[in-house]
Amino acid sequence: MSMKPLKKQPIIELSNIVVEFNSRDGTFFNPKKFTAVNDVSLSIHSGETVGLVGQSGCGKSTLASVMIGLQRPTSGEVKFNGLQMKYGSAEARKQFGRQVSVIFQDPATALNPRMRVLDILKDPMDIHGILQPNEREKRVYELLSRVGLPRSAALVEPTRLSGGQKQRVAIARALALNPKLIVADEPTSALDVSVRAQVLNLLADLKKELNLAMVFISHDLQTVHQVSDRIVVMNGGKVVETGTAEEVFNFPTKEYTRTLIDAAPSLL
Ligand SMILES: Nc1ncnc2c1ncn2[C@@H]1O[C@H](COP(=O)(O)OP(=O)(O)OP(=O)(O)O)[C@@H](O)[C@H]1O
Ligand SMILES: [Mg+2]
Repeated sequence: MSMKPLKKQPIIELSNIVVEFNSRDGTFFNPKKFTAVNDVSLSIHSGETVGLVGQSGCGKSTLASVMIGLQRPTSGEVKFNGLQMKYGSAEARKQFGRQVSVIFQDPATALNPRMRVLDILKDPMDIHGILQPNEREKRVYELLSRVGLPRSAALVEPTRLSGGQKQRVAIARALALNPKLIVADEPTSALDVSVRAQVLNLLADLKKELNLAMVFISHDLQTVHQVSDRIVVMNGGKVVETGTAEEVFNFPTKEYTRTLIDAAPSLL
């Protein structure tokens, strides 16, 4: 009997994803199509960070919104844990919501300024009925400690926190439901340069500790290189280059990738 190792199933598997939008220069009766994502295929396994990089407008955030269930692809297929994802229904959104979390660029707008941090972190558990109600508060304090915030942060509103601390709250919220995949779209771009490295390190530690799959999006190849196992370079909605972080960063095969490396400031 042969003992072939089972090939591990990807957490998320995108096949031939196309996203078209009605372009702005079309008219109501004669809509023109604009292809924001053009035939992208990509699989991500647990414990793996994939860096998605490319110039502004190349389709990174559109592809991210497909992965988090907000954007139905025009064509192509998304499988999550081997199951084909359906888009649009409340059930599908809930399914996505539990397994995929997202961290956005600007924590100031991503967090409700009128809610205390305690309630911001408890909210996803209340919505999804995770844990018994009396256990949720304890979990909030575990999450705070995991992202390096003091217990006292629970009782303030986000406006009282610094940018880096706010992003830590956003990361804690992303972890609240024990997701399988975290999609971080430019998570450090809005932060002060002095705290970017700390937040990057935190994300890298969490991915390792929790064996998460992560998509790290940035236009900055230096930053992506710091945290990624694999890099996917996009241009005009297409994947133009892909490989291990070292391969792509040290031996880029495309002129476009080289431009991204040269353009990147080394401030992190
Ligand atoms: N809802 C929409 N309707 C029409 N066009 C859109 C829509 N969303 C995005 N686009 C267009 O699709 C293209 C890709 O946008 P996307 O936001 O995915 O780029 P990006 O790579 O994330 O850019 P950035 O680095 O600036 O965040 C852009 O040309 C954008 O204008
Ligand atoms: Mg974007």
